Amino acid sequence: GIARIPHPARRVPLLGDVLGVSPSAPVQDSMRMARELGPVFQRKVFGQRIVFVADPGLVAELADETRFVKKVVLAVERLRDVAGDGLFTAHSDEPNWRLGHEVLAAGFTREAMVRYHPTMVAMAQRLTASWDRRAAAGDPVDVPGDMTKLTLETIAHTGFGYDFGSFERSEPHPFVTSMVSALLHAQDRRLLIPGVRTVFARAVRKRVTGHHGHLRSVVDEVVRRRTAEGDESTDDLLGLMLNTGRPGTGERLDAANIRNQVITFLVAGHETTSGALSFALYYLAKHPEVLARARQEVDEVWGGAEVPGYEQVSKLRYVRRALDEALRLWPTAPGYVRAARADTVLGGRYPMREGAWALVLIPALHRDEEVWGPDPEAFDPDRFLPERVRARPAHTFKPFGTGERACIGRQFALHEAVLVLGLLLRRYDLHDHADYRLRVTERLTLMPEGFTLTLTRRKVPA
Ligand code: HEM
Repeated sequence: GIARIPHPARRVPLLGDVLGVSPSAPVQDSMRMARELGPVFQRKVFGQRIVFVADPGLVAELADETRFVKKVVLAVERLRDVAGDGLFTAHSDEPNWRLGHEVLAAGFTREAMVRYHPTMVAMAQRLTASWDRRAAAGDPVDVPGDMTKLTLETIAHTGFGYDFGSFERSEPHPFVTSMVSALLHAQDRRLLIPGVRTVFARAVRKRVTGHHGHLRSVVDEVVRRRTAEGDESTDDLLGLMLNTGRPGTGERLDAANIRNQVITFLVAGHETTSGALSFALYYLAKHPEVLARARQEVDEVWGGAEVPGYEQVSKLRYVRRALDEALRLWPTAPGYVRAARADTVLGGRYPMREGAWALVLIPALHRDEEVWGPDPEAFDPDRFLPERVRARPAHTFKPFGTGERACIGRQFALHEAVLVLGLLLRRYDLHDHADYRLRVTERLTLMPEGFTLTLTRRKVPA
């Protein structure tokens, strides 16, 4: 039974396994425990037992939709304070999950990506305009900060026709500040302690309620703009929700749910992609031979084109492999939770009652030596050569989650990120001027902290 699952030896009542680990890096602490305890282990955090799974066979089993389903618990449950029954935080059996999924799926087809492409290019050009100025002045660029500006503008423009003016600001848009506070708050494990929820939480709640209120007011403004324009023809995400509704029936989402979806997409649609781009640039800057191969591909596929077309982005197969490899090492949404639909036995060893759940620890899964070989920490995009992907078992690479509740924005993120990497590699030489050492910060998502580069413009081949 569950007693067979290893747990850290040191156990203090109440504090459980938290003592001695940093409350701000739960994912990296858990990755360390997976190394020490193996690919199935449990941690007791403030009285709550969490089972972590990083074993490829068990992860594949948990992907079986007939036996397991996404469960909204822990930090994701606390995000419901701000995102309610939006797609990410909706319970799987909530009617608004399926309705929202069906309404919004039309915004993520290949045709939709082709429609978004020119806007994605335009947002990337705002980034390069800003980086050109930095390059000319010899000033370093704040990579995660600028990737966040880029990805926020991209989802806001493509999804909602809204401009945050991120590149015209010296400070992050207040929406981003409030979002980060909300994410950090959801991650704060002190809030799991019974009693502290009232004492400590009352103090933080006041501040966080302010941030949540700010997020809602931004969203109401986004929707108000569109309705005031009276334009019912736009087929972006907001248009699908306001005007189109459910395919076939036209059934609409209610106003409260639309607000939850807008917050959800503004946050889910930029935070993780920003981290993925930042980690990819980190590995490219540290691996000149990979960068050279990636850039050669861009030069060959794009030639002298001023801006790439949609197809020219899809053809950057090596750049895509470098991105996949960055997402292997640092999947920026690092976990997902699967619950048993009925009493079952996981892997023939671990009995689970109906509703019992386990957290898939993606960065540990992505370092399994049976699957990835003896040096899983090594950055090697060739791991994603088609023949090597085909040779690996299913469900060993899961940066976008699994099944029906997997990431709806996967193609959006991949197209945006490959496009931007292509543009940046073609335009700049990257200099690791500060001899950066990777520090990963956690705010539910993962992000390299304090990562700067200097740039020089490169001659683009004719
Ligand atoms: C769900 C990762 C980009 C929107 C998920 C899940 C993961 C994930 C792991 C499943 C979470 C769970 O099972 O609890 C990522 C990564 C991204 C990315 C790594 C970038 C590299 C995006 C983008 C959008 C988006 C660009 C929107 C434009 C969503 C939504 C869900 C989701 C709405 C919830 C889907 C549902 O439950 O129906 N994402 N995501 N994501 N993602 Fe993404």
